[in-house]
Amino acid sequence: MSTFYLQCIEETCQRRQDPRHEASACAQCGGLLEVKYAFDYFDPEELRHRWHQRRLSGQIIDRSGVWRFRELLPIIEPGARIISLSEGNTPLVGTRRTSWWAGPIHLTIKHQGNNPTGSFKDLGMTACITRATARGVRVVACASTGNTSSSMAAYAGRAGMRSLVFVPYRQISAAKLAQALDFGALVVEVGDTFDEAFRLLREVAPEMGLYLVNSINPFRLEGQKTIVAEMMEQRAYRPPDYIVVPGGNLGNCSAVGKGLRELKELGVIEKVPVVVVVQAAGANPFYRTVAANSPELIPVEQPNTEATAIRIGRPANWKKARRVLEYTNGFCECVTDEEIFEAKSVLAQDGVACEPASAATVAGIRKLVRAGRIPRHADVVAVLTGHQLKDTEYIMRHRSPTDPATAGRQRLRVEPDVDALRRALEKAFATPP
Ligand code: F0G
Repeated sequence: MSTFYLQCIEETCQRRQDPRHEASACAQCGGLLEVKYAFDYFDPEELRHRWHQRRLSGQIIDRSGVWRFRELLPIIEPGARIISLSEGNTPLVGTRRTSWWAGPIHLTIKHQGNNPTGSFKDLGMTACITRATARGVRVVACASTGNTSSSMAAYAGRAGMRSLVFVPYRQISAAKLAQALDFGALVVEVGDTFDEAFRLLREVAPEMGLYLVNSINPFRLEGQKTIVAEMMEQRAYRPPDYIVVPGGNLGNCSAVGKGLRELKELGVIEKVPVVVVVQAAGANPFYRTVAANSPELIPVEQPNTEATAIRIGRPANWKKARRVLEYTNGFCECVTDEEIFEAKSVLAQDGVACEPASAATVAGIRKLVRAGRIPRHADVVAVLTGHQLKDTEYIMRHRSPTDPATAGRQRLRVEPDVDALRRALEKAFATPP
């Protein structure tokens, strides 16, 4: 059977750690840890066939779009209890208007909003909470911009654990807060930014014996990396030219890169796509760091964007993400909130909706095609990370009856009278959308 160990990613350290004493940082230098494998030999064709066959099975482990690819994450004992909500299995959909608007390119959407709690976090959470369950963990905790906390609360509840959430005060969407509460988490609103909440959590966690499930937990990324296995399967193992993800704490980008590397090493894919990270212009520490080719992170002290999911100034996983850009010849872009809104609106015309952070990908693609960094007609997959209903306040703000773009076109308040209705509707239909 394939084996694994934990290893510090710092080049000067690279200390191996016994996974039985797993932690979220290297005991020697405090660096990030990653899961490394000594994989058994697999015949790639047989492996692809095995994954496909499992789609016909009714077993919990096979119905999960994460555990179906379990050869890629041999981190649990055979027969261990799997904490799953049938995560993954998300659609890959083509776009017409958005492909033209952003390109012309061949743009498909991998929609992670179709996960049980409405975001890509569920892929990582099933891996992490399953692992925590096997180790007898009783209380899990995270700091969050909202999606990690919703997901953690759901999976922890299912596993019978308590969950503790730190969120910045009034900085996350009401829907996400509601989800965490609904799943029974203890929610602490603390600090003005995610970064502050995260720093405080990391300070109190050791003395309180809290098991952290933020993306510094290496097992989270193991679950999240399976997105690329599923994407490749849906594309008959023909990799796209580019995979584009939004960047916040940079766990997703790190996971996507790790997944691609391992699929390539196992011979399941022949080519590795370029990985592109898109950040919001007001919360773009990684963009700045990459642009300056800086050996240290250039943080953003007061991150600010309407895409609250990615309002992060000190991304914990930036070093892993930088390795992914190096490995895939990738790059990082940033986009304004106006560009994000425009992209979100165009996606909606294709019937594809998402939360604002996710639409940053498509805004970034358009900018990169215009700048000639992504060639026209390229084959591009944008990962949409969160569901439309994750942030309805954003939609209502942008579609308010007082907004000139919306007033009279989309939202009418009409007297309960047939003539008044007729007049209002005739007028509205006379204006092109
Ligand atoms: N998109 C959405 C919808 C997110 O919720 C996040 C992160 C990202 C993109 C960025 O992913 O951090 O892996 O680079 N949300 C975290 C949270 C920080 O707490 O829910 P990343």
